[in-house]
Amino acid sequence: MFGIEHPIIQGGMHYVGFAEMAAAVSEAGGLGIITGLTQPTPEALAKEIRRCREMTSRPFGVNLTFLPSVTPRDYPGYVRAIVDGGIKIVETAGNNPQQWLPGLKDAGIKVIHKCTSVRHSVKAQTIGCDAVSVDGFECGGHPGEDDVPNFILLPLAAEKLQIPFVASGGMADGRSLVAALALGADGMNMGTRFIATKEAPVHDHVKQALVAASELDTRLIMRPLRNTERVLKNAAVERVLAKEKSLGASIKFDDIVGDVAGAYPKIMKEGNLDAGPWSCGMVAGLIHDVPSVKELIDRIMREANEIISARLGRFAAA
Ligand SMILES: Cc1cc2nc3c(=O)[nH]c(=O)nc-3n(C[C@H](O)[C@H](O)[C@H](O)COP(=O)(O)O)c2cc1C
Repeated sequence: MFGIEHPIIQGGMHYVGFAEMAAAVSEAGGLGIITGLTQPTPEALAKEIRRCREMTSRPFGVNLTFLPSVTPRDYPGYVRAIVDGGIKIVETAGNNPQQWLPGLKDAGIKVIHKCTSVRHSVKAQTIGCDAVSVDGFECGGHPGEDDVPNFILLPLAAEKLQIPFVASGGMADGRSLVAALALGADGMNMGTRFIATKEAPVHDHVKQALVAASELDTRLIMRPLRNTERVLKNAAVERVLAKEKSLGASIKFDDIVGDVAGAYPKIMKEGNLDAGPWSCGMVAGLIHDVPSVKELIDRIMREANEIISARLGRFAAA
């Protein structure tokens, strides 16, 4: 469907999904994705798409996230930049993409919708999305409010979906890929793991923090606002959690906006890890090194093949 060599997608990531990231993943045979809204304007996105095309002739996509935002975004403009830029794959996330589908599909674009529940996956199928990325509770970023981990979510999605889907959340290596396939998915989507790579255009402090973190080091913030985000624990996260506890059900986004807004460039570009909360999956516990993207993807495919032919092959033969 996407014209890629390996069934591995790099999910859109704020202030990580620049042309360098997407091109490295696509060049290594996966599907790289530029994060649309990290670009301040549709014109900037158009430029980023052109920059990525100079780095790779392979297919890459653009992520369009529909989430509450401090500054209202020009979505029609971003869609125009995607269509005019000749993009053929869009990852939507955050909210129902229905109103944008006709414009995207008329341009021959395949839409993979990322969502965190079986009911939203089925809805995506019903409204005409081409594929789904099923994001379990483990995931970095926004896991939704249902808290269903992938061991339950993926087989349930497989029971209900006729369109292809990839497993997202907690995916790190060849074991993840084989497990995702066993549970009914057609491939996997990774976020956090791709940040700890040589090509990821983020400060080295961020990569080293992921190598150092364990599976116990993430926290869920903004749960009382029903906008839950899984982030790496730090001083800013502790401040937000303290406010959530003291203000209880009366909390408003305005109460924490100073702690969360505008932090990403300081973290990702300057390496100031405590500048605010930043998305990170529990999978950080499985990240032990900073390989190149090609080394990572080749290793995943090699491991997956070894598991299937050796370990699982022995089970089949028994
Ligand atoms: C730093 C970071 C930023 C992210 N930003 C976005 C985003 O802007 N839009 C989006 O749809 N998903 C975003 N995600 C989620 C990823 O695309 C992906 O679904 C998720 O990371 C998968 O879980 P994993 O981290 O366990 O691999 C982000 C994830 C991380 C770690």
